[in-house]
Amino acid sequence: MCGIIGYTGSSQALPVLVQGIRLLSYRGYDSAGVSIWNDGSLRIRKDQGRIEDLAPRWNPDELAGTAGIGHTRWATHGVPNMPNAHPQHDAGEQVAVVHNGILENDLALRERLEGEGVVFASDTDTEVFAHLFARSFEGDAVAAARSLLETCHGAFALAIQHASLPSTLVAVRRGSPLLIGLGVRENLVASDLRPLVGRADAVIELGEDQIALVTPDSVRLFGADGGEVEYATRPIDHSERDIGKDGYPHFMLKEIHEQPDRIYELIASRVDAERGAVRLDDVGITDDQWRRFERVDLIGCGTAFHACLYGAYVLESIAGIPARAVMAHEYEARAPRLNDRVLAIALSQSGETMDTKIAAQAAIDGGAHTLGVLNVRQSVIGRAVHGVLDIHAGPEVAVASTKVYTQMLCALLLLALRASQARGGDGRHLQELAPALKRLPDDVRAVLGRFDGVREAARDVRRAGDMLFLGRGYDAGTALEGALKMKEISYIHAEGYPAGEMKHGPIALVSREMPTVAIATEGPTRDRMIGNVREVRARDGEILLVATDGDVDAEKLADFVLWVPSVHPLIAPVVNVVPLQLLAYETARLRGCDVDQPRNLAKTVTVQ
Ligand code: F6R
Repeated sequence: MCGIIGYTGSSQALPVLVQGIRLLSYRGYDSAGVSIWNDGSLRIRKDQGRIEDLAPRWNPDELAGTAGIGHTRWATHGVPNMPNAHPQHDAGEQVAVVHNGILENDLALRERLEGEGVVFASDTDTEVFAHLFARSFEGDAVAAARSLLETCHGAFALAIQHASLPSTLVAVRRGSPLLIGLGVRENLVASDLRPLVGRADAVIELGEDQIALVTPDSVRLFGADGGEVEYATRPIDHSERDIGKDGYPHFMLKEIHEQPDRIYELIASRVDAERGAVRLDDVGITDDQWRRFERVDLIGCGTAFHACLYGAYVLESIAGIPARAVMAHEYEARAPRLNDRVLAIALSQSGETMDTKIAAQAAIDGGAHTLGVLNVRQSVIGRAVHGVLDIHAGPEVAVASTKVYTQMLCALLLLALRASQARGGDGRHLQELAPALKRLPDDVRAVLGRFDGVREAARDVRRAGDMLFLGRGYDAGTALEGALKMKEISYIHAEGYPAGEMKHGPIALVSREMPTVAIATEGPTRDRMIGNVREVRARDGEILLVATDGDVDAEKLADFVLWVPSVHPLIAPVVNVVPLQLLAYETARLRGCDVDQPRNLAKTVTVQ
């Protein structure tokens, strides 16, 4: 995931671009760059590193000019280095391109261009756009942009400059978001609202497959057929200016809604469908190491620990490596037997959690190979461990973790698929899962579209004093996570259990006053879950059921059904947790709780 900024107006472009890159850096920050039009040529400066370190090296006199584009990168295609930084350009530097998204037919197009004599200077998919645009440009930027839409597959937001167009920015959108900010005698292009606030009064959201020509005092929009289209502008309102919730009443709801896009970016950048492989080169674990590992310890706290539970299941069942989830604060006390045949994975949103940091250090000291599955690469844990799998969920502001959890699940599934690949697996799992993973963002989106059903259930449970959450197998952790979300933001006492545990004690609690949330979606555990639901029902318990669309038998047993689409059971936990996040959110809201900053909690727990 990357950030794009473009500026054309009467001010110097460089400071505007640098500030925009700063504000977009949460999207990725391993390299950055700018291109500025100056006297008939494009002046491009870019390198590996953070904008804070790069910008002081860029000479404002050499980069004088009032139109330019900028980019902050999270590496997907090619390591973070200068050639792979954006803007990408053609050989003659007539065209500069910044890009957010994934070009899916990159390999085929690259081969075709190489066959036509193009020499590539980087490993990026973005460079393909620069060469294609340069080759099809004959003075008409819209025609050249249309040919990109015809030739290129995938999701991409692009801002393009051509040396022959002094003050024009070309913007193209397919899939990835792109906004145009309207200012006074200046206009901007950006991946999100952040860099526009303060300069623009209103925005245009570029539609799917639309092209924009942006100059200091005009914006023209075109469809993929080349016809000019009308557009609507919307003012940037006060709440957006103040707190960056993008129109949502709470950060938590905004972050829940970000999940489909975050998941798409993670999966699309890591699953190479053309080669039938998972790409995790930056994690730094060789095939030989994967083959030598005899055990995986997954360590984390709270929500991260629930992700560890899922991770242990998938690593063991897909990759065949014995794996266990351990709460980070319990790790040292177990005096784990460690050596370089153990992989210890520390999961953390912040990368600063003291308990997880201490457990990771114990694993390092014991000689294990350590990996951080983190949302903040440049963190204490990130610096200590041998390698990092950056989940790139973007900043999570709400104290209750949501998008980080689903992102961790996806990252762990990819890790298990990669491990299986390295250990000589037959590729069956990836073959089976690839189409399901591709559909996953839409499946999550479908659940978000069913908020009304969740609202109805929340109106009922808002008065409960206690709740029970049940799940089995891959969804045992989902039940624990659903209960944690409910208790931490609504203050309703909620317990999560693997459902098989019910008859060993918790069933004594069941009564009409204690709603039970049961996850009984299709898959190998569905029937046994339905058995548990019957047991609760027989004791007059109220049932909220997470069930697969069309499961009419399950529906008959429930007071409320939280419907989810049919998905592969291995990835069902990613989808099944979403109605539980929404249920906790809505219940807390109805109870008048401070959703984003619940009492007694902190986002980053740096004490033991
Ligand atoms: C729950 C929550 C916490 C964190 C836990 C670990 O919604 O946010 O349980 O998951 O404190 O934090 P990180 O992931 O930063 O190590």
